[in-house]
Amino acid sequence: MRLLKKVTAVALASCMAMSLAACGGGSSETTKAPAENTAESTEAGDDTAETTEAGGEADATEAPAADGPVANKDKPLVWFNRQPSNSSTGELNMDALNFNANTYYVGFNANQGAELQGTMVKEYIESHIDSIDRNGDGIIGYVLAIGDIGHNDSIARTRGVRSALGTAVEANGAVDSTPVGTNTDGTSSYVQDGTLEVNGKTYTIRELASQEMKNQTGATWDAATAGNAINTWSASFGESIDVVVSNNDGMGMAMFNAWSMAQGVPTFGYDANSDAVAAIANGYGGTISQHADVQAYLTLRVLRNILDGVDIDTGIGTADEAGNVLSADVYEYNEAERSYYALNVAVTADNYQDFMDSTVTYAPVSNQLGEDHAAKKVWLNIYNSADNFLSATYMPLLQKYDDLLNLEVEYIQGDGQNESNITNRLSNPSQYDAFAINMVKTDNAASYTNLLNQ
Ligand code: BGC
Ligand code: CA
Repeated sequence: MRLLKKVTAVALASCMAMSLAACGGGSSETTKAPAENTAESTEAGDDTAETTEAGGEADATEAPAADGPVANKDKPLVWFNRQPSNSSTGELNMDALNFNANTYYVGFNANQGAELQGTMVKEYIESHIDSIDRNGDGIIGYVLAIGDIGHNDSIARTRGVRSALGTAVEANGAVDSTPVGTNTDGTSSYVQDGTLEVNGKTYTIRELASQEMKNQTGATWDAATAGNAINTWSASFGESIDVVVSNNDGMGMAMFNAWSMAQGVPTFGYDANSDAVAAIANGYGGTISQHADVQAYLTLRVLRNILDGVDIDTGIGTADEAGNVLSADVYEYNEAERSYYALNVAVTADNYQDFMDSTVTYAPVSNQLGEDHAAKKVWLNIYNSADNFLSATYMPLLQKYDDLLNLEVEYIQGDGQNESNITNRLSNPSQYDAFAINMVKTDNAASYTNLLNQ
């Protein structure tokens, strides 16, 4: 019964996500409750039995790794934040997601979050209609900072904003997410002028400019590049910019600090990093929490469960002995995609006081595990030490959860440019019990799995 209820709730959330016109490359069609994984756990359990017999030791609660050496290719692996996928088509890399029976992805529902972001911006415009059009030309102009044109999350957010504001056009059956460059005259074929009717008056909404914020060395989601872009844009058509939107807070805050705060131009981001939430008091328009507190937990919890040889749902959909459990309103599991997705929440002037510290663990899963969960070694990398979200929000959370879950995590931080900068530091995978990987580029899963296959 409980399972049934949960499936319904999750299916409902999925439907909400699917109602987004921009819905492409959906992450939520085949949502099922996580309990389906019992098969794997049982398998792991069987292995334990064999190992135990052979080793003559009778500790049935120990994970398979405890007695005999587990081959690196069979160790638990969690991809997170960058889902193995084709950066041109968005198609999931199912080989990487099924690298072994203990492989998963942890991220968030990109379409649901994108719809929230677009709606948040639209509602802000509607409720500030009397003051939003700064030069009074009847056109509400916005600029958009794009993170990474080959990253599913970035694409979803661009689509979500364009769909909500009526500026989206279709290309190959989905909303076009191509950056326009500059479009001050409204002639770009990647977007169209939208119309918005408020209080009986019709306004035009125009995407004046958008660009991928990639720096000289190739790092994406680059905050400094976004700060430079707003300076360039505002110098040539600043009086037309009424709203600033960004695929994330790192870039959004760079633009806010460089230009829009002083101009009183509302700026919207994504991630709910602490500095962005605090800036709402100074005119930052709003952001979206992707529930990093839930994602960071899931990233390590999934590994913990596999290492413990218990049902994968333990401490997730099913309470563990310490009382840790997540409810269906904060995450969903998609069995076909081997993926856990946290759900998003809009953070605006109405509720930002509740989100001031993005590094606080999520209370329902903040109970310390006992010492019977033996310490295990995890190798984990962050693709770019300069990424605001990962370094200011996600990693501090991981560092709190690793204590709560008795995991010894080695954190490796990359340069955001080359996979080899990271893989070079995985020279001896045999030293670790499990791996959590954040690729530089979503196409590059094999750079890691090749090392584990050796
Ligand atoms: C975050 C971005 C971050 C990116 C890195 C996204 O989910 O919203 O802030 O730069 O992940 O992969
Ligand atoms: Ca205007």
